[in-house]
Amino acid sequence: MVAPVRAHHLAQMKAQGTPIAMITAYDALSARIFDQAGIDMILVGDSYGNTMLGYSSTIPVTLEEMKVATGAVVRATERAFVVADMPFGSYEESDAQAVRSAVALMKLGANAVKLEGGERRASAIKAITDAGIPVVAHVGFTPQAENALGGHRVQGRGDDGSAALRADALAVQEAGAIAVVFEMVPEPIATALTKELAIPTIGIGAGPHTDGQVLVWTDMAGMGDWRPKFAKAFGEVGAALRQATDDYIAAVKDRSFPDEDHSFAK
Ligand code: KIV
Repeated sequence: MVAPVRAHHLAQMKAQGTPIAMITAYDALSARIFDQAGIDMILVGDSYGNTMLGYSSTIPVTLEEMKVATGAVVRATERAFVVADMPFGSYEESDAQAVRSAVALMKLGANAVKLEGGERRASAIKAITDAGIPVVAHVGFTPQAENALGGHRVQGRGDDGSAALRADALAVQEAGAIAVVFEMVPEPIATALTKELAIPTIGIGAGPHTDGQVLVWTDMAGMGDWRPKFAKAFGEVGAALRQATDDYIAAVKDRSFPDEDHSFAK
């Protein structure tokens, strides 16, 4: 039995300057691979919607869908700290709704929940934290608000932008968040806020100096034709899967599969 990563370990990693590696997962198969590789945190991201469910954004993702993915990831994970994303529509109405949705995800075995928004979500973060549930906040570009933000745009640019980002980051820390994701923000601001904040910062498109990094696993593995500028592919799993499928089809068509090694003689 491996020792699980807990919230206080993330704080220790920040204090020691040990980078935190986080990745998304939405099913048991991929979560087990990432966990066995030694990833520190797994995010059951609502990017489940665009990567796996065929939606064009995260907005249609439901709490029921996130519960299925969260349960699958939790069942396959022994060590990593599992964070379940709260989908659009599951926490905006009231603090009571936010706590109810967070409780539903925690019942499946998640270690924390994540929600998007800074100052405007401080009250929900505090209510969930007061219910005994660790919260990871998410500021900068927040995909669930892409319509309000005018599409996929870097946030925190200019004096006003950086002041707003700083206010968001301080507000979520003050509300009790145990960590904060910075998405698509200029590197100098992410670096300065990482020094200023007591809680770990996890960057995605925020430069190399945040306390940790997170990537959507399909981007990390090179699964799609398109990936954002900040996402590096560390493998070409999509091309390998396509090649394996081509080879399988060809072997069925020319009857070279199944061969003797894959048949029962009697
Ligand atoms: O859902 C997700 O994958 C995320 C990451 C982009 C941080 O929220």
